[in-house]
Amino acid sequence: MRERVRVPELLGARARGDNNVEDRFLTQLQLRNGVYKMTERHRFDDTLDATVSHANRIGAHRVLDVACSSGISTLELATALGTREVHGTDLTIEATYLERDGLGWLVDADDRVLQVDHPQWAMTWSPGKRELATHPGRVAHSLLLRALRRGLRSFARTQVSLISSEVAAASVEIHEEDAFEPTVKGPFELVRVANFMNIFYFSRRELLALRDAVVSRLADGGVLFVVRTHHDRSNHGSYFERRGSRMVELDRVGAGSEVRELITR
Ligand SMILES: C[S@@+](CC[C@H](N)C(=O)[O-])C[C@H]1O[C@@H](n2cnc3c(N)ncnc32)[C@H](O)[C@@H]1O
Repeated sequence: MRERVRVPELLGARARGDNNVEDRFLTQLQLRNGVYKMTERHRFDDTLDATVSHANRIGAHRVLDVACSSGISTLELATALGTREVHGTDLTIEATYLERDGLGWLVDADDRVLQVDHPQWAMTWSPGKRELATHPGRVAHSLLLRALRRGLRSFARTQVSLISSEVAAASVEIHEEDAFEPTVKGPFELVRVANFMNIFYFSRRELLALRDAVVSRLADGGVLFVVRTHHDRSNHGSYFERRGSRMVELDRVGAGSEVRELITR
């Protein structure tokens, strides 16, 4: 298992323009709702031609990438689409780093710990079997550090953007938003939902609520692309068209979307 990136290492790498460390940090980060920030460059390269061709067919002007993580694949989508208005949204795009005596706590907007940093290592808020098997001492120590934070009053505070530095410098607009309660106004002619509406992450009821929230921002005649990347890096997704209150599957990538029955019901 690769060592987790400590926040001071992330900030140092950003100052040097080292994207690899930033990529690794964001990939390892897990939000408190259990969803990983996990993303990767070139993840959707094999789907871009089909996505661009749908966008051209319907003359899409406004494009939305829901749950876009660091925004790196949103930037790749925007580059492939050319001159269109591209927005990305994600639940958490800013975190705060609390530091004291060489120890650090990365917390979300609700002050919940995402990562604990010790001078030599970092630990996620949700250590699993792998961490317990390889570093049981660190797991115990990190739990103690989480408890210790509650008793401490003063920290040095640093804002930590969870958006890739490359995206921050580009024309793509990234907004903080809960996909269950959207605030970025539609309509959008093209919406992509990648590695988010997964059966593994949400209950059927939650997936249906997400479907309704996503469709409510899709223009009539607009296209929704729901896709999931498997461990072997292959993409499986479906393109759907909104026809009034109905969603119709148009075509598929790989085996199609695992939630297509929920989208078209
Ligand atoms: C596995 S990543 C997928 C990132 C990117 N779409 C991709 O495929 O590379 C899932 C993303 O969903 C975001 N997320 C989790 N819960 C969310 C919510 N309720 N609303 C919006 N985004 C959410 C996470 O912050 C994370 O960036």
